[in-house]
Amino acid sequence: MSEAIKWVKKDPLKENVFWPNEAMKERAWVSDESIYAEAKADPEGFWARQAEELHWSKHWDKAYEFAPQNYKWFVGGKLNLSYNSLDRHIEAGHGDRIALIWEPEPVDEEAVKLTYKELHRLVSKLANVLKGLGVQKGDRVGIYLPMIPEAVIAMQACARIGAPHSVVFSAFSPDSLRDRMIDAGAKVLITADGYYRRGKAINLKKNADAGIQGTPVEKVVVVKRLDGSVPMEAERDLWYHELIEGASAECPAEQMDSEDLAFLLYTSGTTGEPKGIMHTTGGYAVQSYITAKWDFDLHEGDVYWCTADVGWITGHTYINYGPLMNGVTSVMYEGSPDTPDCGRMWAIIEKHKITQLYTAPTAIRMFLKWGDEWPAKHDLSSLRLLGTVGEPINVDAWMWYFKKIGGGRCPIIDTWWQTESGATLVNSLPGIGPFIPTIAGRPFPGVIGRILDAGGSPVPAGEGGYLSIVSPFPPALTRGIYGDMERFKAQYYTEYGPERYFTSDGARVDEMGNIRITGRVDDVMNVAGHRLATAEVESALAQNDKVSEVAVVSRPHDLKGEVPVAFVLLKAGVAHSDEIRKELMGTVTTVIGPTGRPDEIIFVDDVPKTRSGKIMRRVLKALVRNEPVGDLTTLQNAESVDHLKEMIGYSG
Ligand code: WTA
Repeated sequence: MSEAIKWVKKDPLKENVFWPNEAMKERAWVSDESIYAEAKADPEGFWARQAEELHWSKHWDKAYEFAPQNYKWFVGGKLNLSYNSLDRHIEAGHGDRIALIWEPEPVDEEAVKLTYKELHRLVSKLANVLKGLGVQKGDRVGIYLPMIPEAVIAMQACARIGAPHSVVFSAFSPDSLRDRMIDAGAKVLITADGYYRRGKAINLKKNADAGIQGTPVEKVVVVKRLDGSVPMEAERDLWYHELIEGASAECPAEQMDSEDLAFLLYTSGTTGEPKGIMHTTGGYAVQSYITAKWDFDLHEGDVYWCTADVGWITGHTYINYGPLMNGVTSVMYEGSPDTPDCGRMWAIIEKHKITQLYTAPTAIRMFLKWGDEWPAKHDLSSLRLLGTVGEPINVDAWMWYFKKIGGGRCPIIDTWWQTESGATLVNSLPGIGPFIPTIAGRPFPGVIGRILDAGGSPVPAGEGGYLSIVSPFPPALTRGIYGDMERFKAQYYTEYGPERYFTSDGARVDEMGNIRITGRVDDVMNVAGHRLATAEVESALAQNDKVSEVAVVSRPHDLKGEVPVAFVLLKAGVAHSDEIRKELMGTVTTVIGPTGRPDEIIFVDDVPKTRSGKIMRRVLKALVRNEPVGDLTTLQNAESVDHLKEMIGYSG
């Protein structure tokens, strides 16, 4: 574990402390502080009360049950995520409300609006199609789709029949898709011919075709988003629209046990191998529902926009399940924020009268750089609340977002959470506050967070430590790593034992209990809001046969938050050149996708190593950050550090 950042006692940011105004307090679901004490006194009772708001076909017998690496919520209860997202609202007479607004990238294409009834119909049809392809309850289904409505339809259809989905980010490479399909054992994949990005038609089917080679995938359902001019393999590939047309729209929702697997989502750990994070049905439903409602202040008639990709947990929980379980309108945008110009975000907000916007600091920094003139051209007065997620936000970006986008009226909800947690864990609530730049806030009611030192003792207010979540665990917390429960234990429950989940994030807390997240303490980076392990980039580069050794570390970046920097030792006889650099970038794109590309590749003759031959990444990290390199006495080749300092112009 590397050291957490030091806490500045006299906090210069304290002047920017914002509290909810009367209007906000009035409409918020909770505006009385006592909710925290109440939930703390009885977390199980708190979560059980929230769970009552959903539809259960069988009530649970027991709210929470704990055993090491085997905790359960709403034991014995039965429910369905899709039923709670769709049928529940239709039965309450709200079927004509808009569930989904999809904004295509090309401006001459009309937005698509689907009511809850229409969405229900499409979901039921696709659910029947999947059944017809032999998918049964418990079977994993791969989804490799861009930002089109069918991504939500596909997830909902899987949930409807109890087939856990495994969504793979559409910008991930064929290799990444392959690894995930093999690990999940998916026999069916839902993909598309392509999509629009920055005005260009991107062929996705080509990647899907390459990615399923050597996997258990037998059937591929292909959504026609573009003109459909992609090769279709007879028997294996089937057009979505043709299948849907002939399918029945009657598909009763499968009653799932609260602890049945709802979905898998692969995320980066500290090794080169992504892990399949498992989420189960009941706990995930409850926490997704109530956090979406309280964090984003969702009310009837709201038009809420989360800009995350459906391939990430944020897209799963806060484009799909969370808002739909709340019966509001969820907005999805297909393309890039600078198409046709840098005002697209603000044009979409104006056009659809968006009430809540949830995006990432990396995007906010980019908008800030593009300039005030873009938002100024549009009427953003429909906005009532802003959210951020994915990485620590800096003060400048926060203040710009607050003033230029929120017009100084909208609270900023800085939500800290992880793929593993399934739903938000730490943030201020809109009716309670405070809203302070760079400070996420208190743990959500019912969530018990502790800042601990390396030995597991709580650190005093103001001091840096590691954030841990204590049992009774939040209901949506992951139940395991698919096929690798040993890794699950090692990753999360070894540091502090089975009753304290280790988050891998550094944090500190102030006297009021507000938490500031200081960033990952392991080798996981946040590159433009995308979670990526340095080891994944290393293993991608190592696949190039000209590479002898490689070490990747992260370096802060103005726009993207963090970027990978690669130190590469080429094999004997291979001279470095721009061609090789390009080739290596290409290798990373092939193995991971464009998100993994190093910001810089530095060719070296030697890297600092311990006496046992382990590369000292800590030293490399300090070098690229111009920070003190610390103690070098354990190195076998300390002279390599001087050489590197010279090469990269180190001034720390
Ligand atoms: C980081 C995304 C600071 C953190 C939901 C975490 C944040 C990792 C915040 C999880 C935030 C997420 N402030 N850091 N508000 N939100 N992080 O799994 O390091 O893609 O461990 O989940 O993102 O990334 P993941």
